[in-house]
Amino acid sequence: MGRLTAATAVALWLWTAAVAAEYMKYKDPKQPVEVRVRDLMSRMTLAEKIGQMTQIEREVSSADVIHKYLIGSIVSGGGSVPWPRATAEDWIDMVNVFQKGALSTRLGIPLIYGIDAIHGNNNAYKATIFPHNVGLGVTRDPELLKRIGAATALEARATGIPYTFAPCIAVCRDPRWGRCYESYSEDHEIVQMMTEIIPGLQGEVPQNYPNNFPFVLPRGKVAGCSKHFVGDGGTAYGINENDTVIEWNELEDIHMPAYLDSIRKGVATIMISYSSLNGIRMHANYDLITGYLKNTLKFEGFVISDMRGIDRLTDPPHSNYTYSVQTSILAGLDMIMVPTAYEEFITDLTLLVNANVIPMSRINDAVRRILRVKFIMGLFENPLADLSFAHYLGSQEHRELAREAVRKSLVLLKNGKDGDGPLVPLPTRSERILVAGSHADDIGNQCGGWTIDWEGHSGNITVGTTILTAVRNSVNPETKVVYNENPEAEYLKSNNFSYAIVVIGEPPYVESSGDSTTLTLDKSAYATITNVCGVVRCVVVLVTGRPVVIEPYIGEIDALVAAWLPGTEGQGVADVLFGEYGFTGRLARTWFRTADQLPMNVGDAIYDPLFPFGYGLMTSPRVVRASQ
Ligand code: BGC
Ligand code: BGC
Repeated sequence: MGRLTAATAVALWLWTAAVAAEYMKYKDPKQPVEVRVRDLMSRMTLAEKIGQMTQIEREVSSADVIHKYLIGSIVSGGGSVPWPRATAEDWIDMVNVFQKGALSTRLGIPLIYGIDAIHGNNNAYKATIFPHNVGLGVTRDPELLKRIGAATALEARATGIPYTFAPCIAVCRDPRWGRCYESYSEDHEIVQMMTEIIPGLQGEVPQNYPNNFPFVLPRGKVAGCSKHFVGDGGTAYGINENDTVIEWNELEDIHMPAYLDSIRKGVATIMISYSSLNGIRMHANYDLITGYLKNTLKFEGFVISDMRGIDRLTDPPHSNYTYSVQTSILAGLDMIMVPTAYEEFITDLTLLVNANVIPMSRINDAVRRILRVKFIMGLFENPLADLSFAHYLGSQEHRELAREAVRKSLVLLKNGKDGDGPLVPLPTRSERILVAGSHADDIGNQCGGWTIDWEGHSGNITVGTTILTAVRNSVNPETKVVYNENPEAEYLKSNNFSYAIVVIGEPPYVESSGDSTTLTLDKSAYATITNVCGVVRCVVVLVTGRPVVIEPYIGEIDALVAAWLPGTEGQGVADVLFGEYGFTGRLARTWFRTADQLPMNVGDAIYDPLFPFGYGLMTSPRVVRASQ
C-alpha cells in the first residue's frame, strides 16, 4: 500500500464533502415519512409545488412536458391506452418513459399514474374483467371483495400502474342513474361491507398505524380512491351530476358511512363528485371537503377532483377557469384532474397564489398530502415498473376468481310457473336446447361500460368466455346447443327444444349516457322473451346494470335470473344455471314494478316492489362441496 499523496487526500476530501452535500433527507427511506415530506417541501419552489397538484391526461403527456411543467400525476381516462391491444410490456414502457421525465427534474419527485381499474384493470386488453359493483353487492362477501381488490392491484401493477380510481362507494338510491352499476347497493351497510376491497387493493393497515393515515404496501399493491364524495348516488331523479337535496342527518346516515370505513382502512385518496349538494357544487364545497372530510373526519390522504370537475363550476364549463381554480383549491382540493389544459391551470394557480388570493398554507396542505401518499407507497424507492407483475394480466387464477364472483352475484328471481315445478338447475343432458338473445354471445355486452374504452362496446372487445360458450362447455357432449339470437315462432315450433336460455339486457353505457327515465329494454329484447317463452320452457337471464322493467313479462317467463354485468367470465353463469353450484345471491337493490315508483328503496314507508331488497331463491348444487 502506497502512502496517501496530498493530491489523493484532497480528492478524497472533495468526494466526501460532495457526498455529504448530496445527502438529502427526503431520499432516505430510513427517515420517517413526515420528516421526508417536510424536508422535501423545504426545498420546493412554488412551481414545483403546483406541478405536484397537476394531473394530466396520458394523451397530452410526454417526458418533456412532465419535465418542463414539473407534473406530479398522470391519468388514463376511460379508453386512454397506449394503443389498442397494448400488452403489459407496452404499458410499462410507456409509463416508465413518463416517469423518467419526472425523475429527471431537479428534485426527482416521481409521478403517480392513475387509472380507472374499477372492475379489474378494465382498460387493458386481456385483463380479467370482474362483475361491476352492482353484482358484487349481491354477494355480501367482503372477503371476496378483498381478493378481487388484490387481483385488481396485481393487474394494474402488471401494466406499471400504481394508482386506481376505485372503489366507487356511491349508494345508488335511484336506478335511473346511469352509474347505478358502479354502486354496490342502495343499502349503505352493504356498501360499507364492500369497502373491504380497499385492503385488497392497498394492503391491510397494520396495528398501531396512525389513524386516518393513507396506507399502501409498496409491492404488488396500488393506491385506492373512494369516490365520488359525497352524495353522487342520491341526485334528484337519478340524473347524473345533478343536485342531491338532503338533510344533514340523512347524508350522514346513507352516503357518508362508507367514507368513514374507507378512511379507517387507510384509503389513500378521495375523489370529489361532479354532483351538487343542496345546490352547492361539491367541487366548490369548502364545508364538506375542508370542514368535514379534512377537519372533522381527519382524512390525511389527498383529495382529487373529478375529470374537468372544476371546469363544471361555471356554466358553460370552463368559461371562467380562474374562478374554477380559485374556488376548488380554496374548497380544499389537493390534486386537480385537469387533464389537458394544464398550462392554463398552472398559470392561473400561480397567479392566484402570487396575488395572495390562495394562501401558501393551502398549497402546502395539498402538497404535503400528495407527497405523503407518494412516500408511503414507496414511489421514491421504486419509481420504475418492471415486468415482474406482467404475468398477472388476465391470469387463469384471476379468471377463476372472477368466475367465483359471477356465481355469487347471480340472483334467482323466479323458478317455475305455478304447478310446473322448478326449471333450474337445468339438466345438462337433453336432446336439443336453444340459446337466444342479444347478450348470449357478446363479451362487450356482458362487461358493460368502462371496459376497454370509456363507454364499453358490444362485440368481441376482449378475451373472455361468453355465456353461450359457457353453456356449451357445461352441457353433456350429446346435447345439441342451438344459438339463434331472435328466433321466429315457426322455427321454434318445428325444433322441439327441451328448454331455452334467453339472455337479454342493456347495451353498454357510461355516466350520463346511461341515465334512463323508463328503464325499459329494447323492444327486441321483450320480443325475444315473448317469442321463445311462448313456445319453449325458458330461463331468462338479464344482463343489466340495474333492475329494469320486467313485470309485464314475468308471467311468460319460467325462470328468471339477474346476472347484472358479469364481466369476462361468463362461465360463472353456466356453473350456477346447470347446478354445479347453487344460487346464493340476494338482491342488493329493490326491483321496482314500474319506473314511476322511483325512487323506492328498502325501508321506505311506501314500498311495493316486484321483488324486495334481499329477495333471492336458493338452489342446492348437484354435488355437495365442503365449501363453495
Ligand atoms: C368519472 C370518474 C373517473 C374519471 C377518470 C370521470 O368522468 O366520473 O369516476 O375516475 O372520469 O376517468
Ligand atoms: C374520458 C373518461 C372521463 C370522461 C369524463 C372521457 O372522455 O375518457 O375517462 O370519465 O371523459 O368527461
